[in-house]
Amino acid sequence: MLRFFEIAEAGIGIHNPLSETKLMQIGAIADRIVGLGPETRQLDLACGEGEMLCRFAQEYGSQGVGVDISPVFIDGANRRAEALAVGSRVTFVQGDAAVYQPEPVYDVVSCIGATWIGGETTGTLALMKPALRDPRRGLLLLGEVFWRDEPDEAARVAMGLEPGYCPTLGGLLDRFDAAGVEMVEMVAANTDDWDAYQTPRWWTGHRWLEEHPDDPDADAFREWLEAGKRDYLLYERRCLGWAVFALKVRG
Ligand SMILES: C[S@@+](CC[C@H](N)C(=O)[O-])C[C@H]1O[C@@H](n2cnc3c(N)ncnc32)[C@H](O)[C@@H]1O
Repeated sequence: MLRFFEIAEAGIGIHNPLSETKLMQIGAIADRIVGLGPETRQLDLACGEGEMLCRFAQEYGSQGVGVDISPVFIDGANRRAEALAVGSRVTFVQGDAAVYQPEPVYDVVSCIGATWIGGETTGTLALMKPALRDPRRGLLLLGEVFWRDEPDEAARVAMGLEPGYCPTLGGLLDRFDAAGVEMVEMVAANTDDWDAYQTPRWWTGHRWLEEHPDDPDADAFREWLEAGKRDYLLYERRCLGWAVFALKVRG
């Protein structure tokens, strides 16, 4: 599965339904809350190709460490840091964020669109919180899916999703409460953001299959691509919401 994402998404930069404008809006929120600058440190778990850390380093001079399990995406992150001339401010580590043991030295800790690393929302927040230098002052940024329009049983089964796959926005608020954090801002994806994230992989995938017809994973990749396209068009495009939540640890 990881390989399929590496094929379909390598080089896209932001691996989520998040426009560049909204990414920088999140930077502005973080700046307002903790004051981003050369002394600020951010840890980004499941950082993908490091776009968030690189852009914040470029805009605010902040420092960052990104952890991702994919060597392909870590390579992309290092190339991006070089291209933006922020290589001295950001470091990318290839590894499993679920077992990464960060020092408690960070002002911002983020996990944008990969909450499975801690089981789900609550478990991932439990992974993130200990990395904050000062939990009362620091900021958590969590990118998470939620049901915008909860699918009926048949649609959920057609998507191959478990009953508790994701909560509604109200359910997410309950999870945040249970995890001892308060939502203080959010930046949500709209349908254009979803389309901009989902649809380029169809052409990328099509082209890769033409170029690699004998790859041992070609058939499985084609199936994955087609099933994903169908699920997206029939259900997810209507039902699935996604947002980055700015969260403060409750005192
Ligand atoms: C949806 S992408 C989000 C990437 C990045 N946060 C972004 O917004 O561009 C999910 C990322 O999680 C990474 N990933 C999946 N499981 C992981 C794990 N156990 N530890 C670290 N990274 C993981 C994938 O390689 C991928 O880069």
